[in-house]
Amino acid sequence: MKRIGIMTSGGDAPGMNVAIRAVARKALSAGLEAYGINYGFAGLVAGDIHEFKATDLDDMVSQGGTMLYSARYPEFAQEESQLKGIEQLKKFGIDALVVIGGDGSYHGALRLTEHGYNAIGLPGTIDNDIPFTDFTIGFDTALNTAVDAIDKIRDTAKSHQRVFAVQVMGRKAADIALWAGVASGADAIIAPGFDYDVEAIANKLKKNRANGKDYGIIVIAEGDANSDAAPEFVEKLKQYGDFDARATVIGHVQRGGVPSAKDRVLASKMGAYAVELLLEGKGGLAIGILDNKVQAHNMLDLFDAKHQADDSLFQLNEDLSF
Ligand code: F6P
Repeated sequence: MKRIGIMTSGGDAPGMNVAIRAVARKALSAGLEAYGINYGFAGLVAGDIHEFKATDLDDMVSQGGTMLYSARYPEFAQEESQLKGIEQLKKFGIDALVVIGGDGSYHGALRLTEHGYNAIGLPGTIDNDIPFTDFTIGFDTALNTAVDAIDKIRDTAKSHQRVFAVQVMGRKAADIALWAGVASGADAIIAPGFDYDVEAIANKLKKNRANGKDYGIIVIAEGDANSDAAPEFVEKLKQYGDFDARATVIGHVQRGGVPSAKDRVLASKMGAYAVELLLEGKGGLAIGILDNKVQAHNMLDLFDAKHQADDSLFQLNEDLSF
């Protein structure tokens, strides 16, 4: 093996640049060459590929987003696109790849492995929704962004005795909502997988008011990327009492920003490990961190598995919020 290709795919996440740097630097220090592929699988098919020099990567530890750009490219599920991608790998002399993205991106990586080009997947998504890893690259930074925003909202909520329904990202996953809810002392968390009752939440807020806490914070997961989850909740809440309620959708600010130190270390460990596996001639594997140990799992097993959020956080929040 002489040349490793690196790409980011799917939604961007803070720490992707750190992972790119780790893969490229580890490859260079092992005497290999590293090539960046722009725009994920779309760029692979188009041949939008360039060589990395060590100096290209200097300040990448502190840069959000992805210097390789990202794209969702469902067309790569088709054999025709895969063959075009392989033509480009041949043209640029790339022998193996690291794909940084969500589990959707892993399908493309597995197809390339099946075609004889070992590919390793790194979990890069703010949603933390990938099986066989406790944390994904970007989750910690996005979580801190959400908590920072909720802390600021609390200031204005208190000043005006208002209830705020704050919607966080996460697609179908509950992780950002659960962690941000506990971290920001929310009065309630609404997230996929957990039943809730608007009237019960209204009663809790009324009880809080009677006890002297005259504002409220409800953290709501977007669910299936529902941009109206928080506004809809506010309308329903108002049917159960005289609430001065507002909805805030934090949105894509959660996808940007300087990666946290935790995400940087995670991305560095995972990126370096991916190159070690490629050097051992392995492919079709997804990197994760379980119990603080970086490890690899077969992508096929991962597709059959389901991500499990830390359910205990929901009850913890119920116990602590009154
Ligand atoms: O997967 C990351 C994520 O930010 C989700 O939390 C969100 O549902 C989705 O991407 C938004 O996608 P887009 O940037 O395409 O609107």
